[in-house]
Amino acid sequence: WPLHAPYVKAINDLKRERGAVILAHNYQSPEIYNCVADIVGDSLQLAREAARIEARVIVQCGVHFMAETAKLLNPDKTVLIPDREAGCSLAESITPEDIRLLRERYPGVPVVAYVNTSAAVKAEVDICCTSSNALDVVESLGAPRVIFLPDRYLAANVAAQTKVEIIAWHGACEVHERFTAEDIGALREIHEGVRIIAHPECPPDVVAAADFAGSTAHMIDWVKRERPRRVVLVTECSMASNVEAEVPDVEFVRPCHFCPHMKRITLPKIYACLRDMSGEVTVEPELAARARRAVERMVALAG
Ligand code: 13P
Ligand code: SF4
Repeated sequence: WPLHAPYVKAINDLKRERGAVILAHNYQSPEIYNCVADIVGDSLQLAREAARIEARVIVQCGVHFMAETAKLLNPDKTVLIPDREAGCSLAESITPEDIRLLRERYPGVPVVAYVNTSAAVKAEVDICCTSSNALDVVESLGAPRVIFLPDRYLAANVAAQTKVEIIAWHGACEVHERFTAEDIGALREIHEGVRIIAHPECPPDVVAAADFAGSTAHMIDWVKRERPRRVVLVTECSMASNVEAEVPDVEFVRPCHFCPHMKRITLPKIYACLRDMSGEVTVEPELAARARRAVERMVALAG
């Protein structure tokens, strides 16, 4: 990536000067993931790492709810996001008022929120989860019924694995909801012997047609462990680019979709953010204290 080289050097120099650490989600572009990130991972790994960070400044290369989560776990640190507009269709699908109405409708039923929610929503719920630990979190509550929000597909995929009754919301990931079971059938016909692994934000018939489903980190682990000759990662496009360098013997077949929010984060924006210390993420302290409880309860469960 010759055009990226000056930015990579400048960002890595500025990072040292500012005492900053860069967290990057697995969906970040390869030049970010491979060249400037200090810690990469899925949502759970990033939340757990955020809780352990010693640096004064955290630059979150991901979407806004991830930066808010880092801030909740590090109230005294400066958390920056290179583009404040990096949102998420799931986080935007539900408000704190919606949660209050759900609690009125289902009194006493515990509420689990996917981390893909705003801090204001997290402040209203009992516990958070990610795609890595959703089933464990739901079952940890010991309740016969659980409200699980906002992703209706993740909710349905969890419901298929547990006896707990799941009351779902209607949100969806605009990237994963585009995949269909017909796509999976066509891929198997066209690419002989291909293995297909999917993210659980995909519709249940897509997950059922796949060979494996898991969080982005679990998908990467699966590829490294199984070493398929050919594989399709039914998820955001950058994942394949980020993993392929580590498994040169695996062919990645690529019908995929980009997340427009994740792709808002670029090297020039990371550079500007560190240079100007701009894009600071703040959460009002009283709200942060309530939201932190739900995130910390999840992190404690993850061990
Ligand atoms: P995970 O990395 O936790 O699987 O999350 C996927 C995702 O869509 C994050 O926005
Ligand atoms: Fe949100 Fe989907 Fe983009 Fe992840 S991939 S940030 S869930 S819109």
